[in-house]
Amino acid sequence: MTVDRHQLTMSGTGRDGVQHYEDALDALLFFRPEVVDRAADVLRVSPDAPLGHALHAYLAVLGTEERDTAAARAPFARFRGALDETRITPRERLHLAAAGACLDGDLHGAARLLDELSVGWPRDALALLAGHQLDFLTGDAGRLRDRIGGALSAWDQEDPHYGPLRGMYAFGLEESGHYEQAQEAGLDALDRNPRDVWGVHGVAHSFEMRGRFGDGLRFLDARTAHWASGNFLTVHNWWHYALFALEAGDTARVLDVYDSAVHPPDAEPLAMQLLDASALLWRLHLAGQDVSARWERLARDWAGRADGAHYAFNDVHIVMAYVGAGRIKDAEELIADRRRWLASVEDSYGTAPSTLSNHAMTARIGVPVCEALVAYGTARDRAAVDLLLPLRHRLAEFGGSHAQRDAVQKTLLEAALRCGRDEVARALLSERIALRPSCPYNWLAQARLADRLGHHAEAATARHRARLQAKEGGGRGAGRDVNAPGAGTRLV
Ligand SMILES: [Fe+2]
Repeated sequence: MTVDRHQLTMSGTGRDGVQHYEDALDALLFFRPEVVDRAADVLRVSPDAPLGHALHAYLAVLGTEERDTAAARAPFARFRGALDETRITPRERLHLAAAGACLDGDLHGAARLLDELSVGWPRDALALLAGHQLDFLTGDAGRLRDRIGGALSAWDQEDPHYGPLRGMYAFGLEESGHYEQAQEAGLDALDRNPRDVWGVHGVAHSFEMRGRFGDGLRFLDARTAHWASGNFLTVHNWWHYALFALEAGDTARVLDVYDSAVHPPDAEPLAMQLLDASALLWRLHLAGQDVSARWERLARDWAGRADGAHYAFNDVHIVMAYVGAGRIKDAEELIADRRRWLASVEDSYGTAPSTLSNHAMTARIGVPVCEALVAYGTARDRAAVDLLLPLRHRLAEFGGSHAQRDAVQKTLLEAALRCGRDEVARALLSERIALRPSCPYNWLAQARLADRLGHHAEAATARHRARLQAKEGGGRGAGRDVNAPGAGTRLV
């Protein structure tokens, strides 16, 4: 047995295998594509290393690609079947149990096992990263924050991987509503590693949730050399950039970013990237922009994948593309397919399975949201409102971030505005403006409602507020200027 650089025992490997594992982990923490080759190196030199197999399983799951998960199941099961688990460490047993749960679709169970692991071995960076991403996929804001928060005190702040932990913590803090702390944690991560793209992402989210779109643009503009290409988060961080530009009213910039970075002509049809494309075009669609040619290409890319029931969050984004492209029959067929899948799974389990995360995600959120999108796309706005109102406070159950799920919340608001459910629209706008008074979108929607009700002076005032906020970029925080030269200076 050998140990990694945190003195954690690794079975079935020698010094070379540990080095490849460390290299893979380093690439993974910074979302660098070479993680795939480095992970392969681990198993090439140490085919019996439990952590090598766990790493492969996590990589096969976290991209939400059904074919990757399916392909990883048999080799993982073969390895585990031949393994005498009494000869490996308790930490490795927990990793294999968590990785196995992931591959079997029990994302919640895997997240709990990794929680247990991190309490016992808080300096296991693989467990923290895999757990953190599972918390994201299951929309568990409290765990996103506390899994990392609970480990931090066990780390030496000079450890090279302490920075990525701070970046993860930034996202957990942001999803839990601690926006100022999220910004500070994310900037601390960037002070340590400017190319910590997950840290960039956490700070971007903190601006998004505070409606500080001007600061968000300046922050990302100042750091493009560090995040805008060559990593697994490139498309997603450009998507965040486009959201800021959209709030600023710069539609030309949004389309430019979409065409060049979010869904460029040579884009690989990966679910995690196509969903960003869907989510951006859907917002433009809600804003009344004609993006039909883009929808058609995007819908073709989704259709070419022939996705089965795997992750309800992706399904919703597939349906956005079908509805946007006018392919209503395809959207309805996807919904029917998921309903058949739900029934077949229930039959085979005898009851609704608690160990298949996507079952509840699809039944409780995915299918009704898909139906609401089709209703909205076919001008059945009352039906869209009736479908979305009861579940809008539990949307997080099917994963993603607040920013991503806001596309659904906006659909509800737009449907309510279009069909004259004025009391619902008023309440939704009151909530949005109370939370983010700096967002022009909220004021422009408020103006549309006021006009509908004949309150034209109020509408004019709301439009004025929208113009002011667009000009000011959503205002600035009172803290340090994150875009000043030298920003990224270590906080002390
Ligand atoms: Fe994000």
